[in-house]
Amino acid sequence: MRAIVISKPGGPEVLQYTEVADVEPQRGEIRVRVRATAVNRADLVQREGRYPAPAGVPADIPGLEYAGDVDAVGEAVTDLKVGDKVFGLVGGGSYAEYIIVHSRATSKMPNHLSYEEAASFPEAFITAYDAMVSQCRLSAGETVLISAAASGVGTAAIQIAHAIGARPIGTTRTAAKADRLQEFGLKDVIVNGDTTFAEDVLKLTNGIGVDVTLELVGGEYISQDLQCTAPRGRIVLVGLLAGASCKFNLGMLLSKRLELRGTSLRARPLEEKIVIAQTFSKSLVPLIGAGKLKSVIDKTFPLKDAAAAHEFLGQNESFGKVVLTV
Ligand SMILES: NC(=O)c1ccc[n+]([C@@H]2O[C@H](COP(=O)([O-])OP(=O)(O)OC[C@H]3O[C@@H](n4cnc5c(N)ncnc54)[C@H](OP(=O)(O)O)[C@@H]3O)[C@@H](O)[C@H]2O)c1
Repeated sequence: MRAIVISKPGGPEVLQYTEVADVEPQRGEIRVRVRATAVNRADLVQREGRYPAPAGVPADIPGLEYAGDVDAVGEAVTDLKVGDKVFGLVGGGSYAEYIIVHSRATSKMPNHLSYEEAASFPEAFITAYDAMVSQCRLSAGETVLISAAASGVGTAAIQIAHAIGARPIGTTRTAAKADRLQEFGLKDVIVNGDTTFAEDVLKLTNGIGVDVTLELVGGEYISQDLQCTAPRGRIVLVGLLAGASCKFNLGMLLSKRLELRGTSLRARPLEEKIVIAQTFSKSLVPLIGAGKLKSVIDKTFPLKDAAAAHEFLGQNESFGKVVLTV
């Protein structure tokens, strides 16, 4: 089969479209003919040699999500058959014509979706739902702050917040993205040219602060989050775009009785990935099927042009997802 391989750590030019060994499903597994995948920040960091793949997935083929057709089933697979359309997460390897997935760690695609649309959902929507709802208990009537709201995860989080009756507030550093976010239905957008936004969030919440903060940027944003998250609020750190360290006032955690947690999907064990996929199937796929959650795709590239797709995502100009067709 053909795949994109990271030939050595480096820039987008190290991605090579080449022939690799075929893959066979074992007991309980399926082989998926990948029709579309998407580019994630983690792929860029892996390509640079700073985020090795977890054990059990290809070390040199990036890709964390897929949409495609079941092409072969291993022994003891009863819930899926050849020809079923599926989508979901993998720990790596989806920049390829075929991948192996556990049959319970995947979800059936709603019929009306194209493969490109389907491939844009899993990583963004599962990350946002797992962090905001499963871990931080975001519920109807509450307010959630979403940093880098125009990102893939951000645009998913806005839709999920609306779907459950919560009020999203988003930040972006780019004025043009603020306009697009408002057209997209996000009423409260803060354009923060630098790392400050806490004062604006407090103004928008009558001085109270937000119940939940979905922190996609990290770095110094955390100290702002502490200032504008309400007493007994929950902050979840999902990404480190602005760096992995910052100075913050521990006193604020104590006095406001805040919860501060971190999350990562990729390295979770199979049992947890199965739970995540089942939650996706039960909680989000029906909303996708009903057209209540929509894919937000900025650009689509053929798999062989993955280097150009990496270049594009790294420029921070995208709104929503960057998809690869296979
Ligand atoms: N923990 C997990 O399991 C998990 C899973 C998925 C994603 N993530 C993380 O979630 C974050 C969002 O991912 P994504 O794929 O949705 O991102 P994305 O679509 O690539 O968008 C990222 C956006 O963040 C903003 N940004 C970039 N660098 C920044 C900086 N230094 N300071 C402030 N803003 C910055 C830019 O938008 P502006 O124009 O608004 O600045 C950029 O377009 C990433 O950190 C990613 O690694 C984590």
